[in-house]
Amino acid sequence: MWENLEIELEKASGEQLKEKPAQDSLGFGVHFTDHMFLMKWNRQSGWHDAKICPYHEFRLDPAAMVFHYGQAIFEGLKAYKGDGGQVYLFRPEDNIERMNVSAQRMCMPRLPVAKVFKALKALVYLDRDWIPTIAGATMYIRPTMIAVEPVLGVRPAGEYYFYIIMCPVGAYYPEGFGPTKIYVTDKYVRSVKGGVGHVKTAGNYAASIMAAEEAHRAGYTQVLWLDACERKYVEEVGTSNIFFMINDELVTPPLGGSILPGITRDSVIRLAREWGVNVVERPIAIDEVIAASIQGNLTEAFGTGTAAVISPIGELCYQGRKYVISGGRTGIFAQRMFDELQAIQSGKQEDPFKWITRVG
Ligand code: COI
Repeated sequence: MWENLEIELEKASGEQLKEKPAQDSLGFGVHFTDHMFLMKWNRQSGWHDAKICPYHEFRLDPAAMVFHYGQAIFEGLKAYKGDGGQVYLFRPEDNIERMNVSAQRMCMPRLPVAKVFKALKALVYLDRDWIPTIAGATMYIRPTMIAVEPVLGVRPAGEYYFYIIMCPVGAYYPEGFGPTKIYVTDKYVRSVKGGVGHVKTAGNYAASIMAAEEAHRAGYTQVLWLDACERKYVEEVGTSNIFFMINDELVTPPLGGSILPGITRDSVIRLAREWGVNVVERPIAIDEVIAASIQGNLTEAFGTGTAAVISPIGELCYQGRKYVISGGRTGIFAQRMFDELQAIQSGKQEDPFKWITRVG
């Protein structure tokens, strides 16, 4: 694990070591492990000063470009502990590759994939005792890149930090893994084709908060986004991709430039096809979803994402009307998908797609 790491290693000690939180009340993204990975970039040296070090605060110039123009990208992946204590990562290289797509779109430097992969595995191994072992809890990993050059001109920054922090987490939504209530917004939009909706940049999430807040105030868990041009076609749900089971066909919107290419989305498509389910990636109008619900042909709907995994949708609200899905309960398909994914991710079940990386 530590040979040929080519990364400085400074272990936390004494007061830098934190008390671990109780596993049954972790929340999401509030507790952070003892260590982090940090690497810096500038035009002269490229990526340099790579180190695993105690988790610490940054001292940044108030003019750092990330604070002004939001040149910031991130990823989300998870580490799991199997029954024998073996640690696993789920499709980690896909996250690093996707981060490079985000970096390119946001005019940020490309990450050295092999080095980041090695650093990620070493960091996870070092803090492996933080990975929860109770059902439904995992360790969420947040690779992040920010522009730190202190200049107010609008242009690509000349200095960046790339870092990885990790937190033991429970379910993302307050509903746990139970059905969510979703508000279809035709007032706000998340992204447009030609914009940045297909990459994981901070501004997408900042721009989504107001719609989510309005949905919360109306008693809903999240919003369902429609396309920005016609407000007709379904795009995503909250911070997740979306799937509908209509007439035994699993339908999801295609990746057309305004939708994030979710790694869980791709895993669901491939697993469902493996099970013999007809999966169709095509534009799906909200009117079609509503009509299918009224006719009884919409049997399930669910969101997919790293944080939320599979989040069943028990109710949709559109233009003031409520539509109950799956009787307001978790659908059979969503439950099977959730169980199967979790079993693969924690090494309990065969991994036919070679998605799992063993750590240590
Ligand atoms: C993820 O599912 O990893 C996400 O990015 C959602 C996050 C914003 C909490």
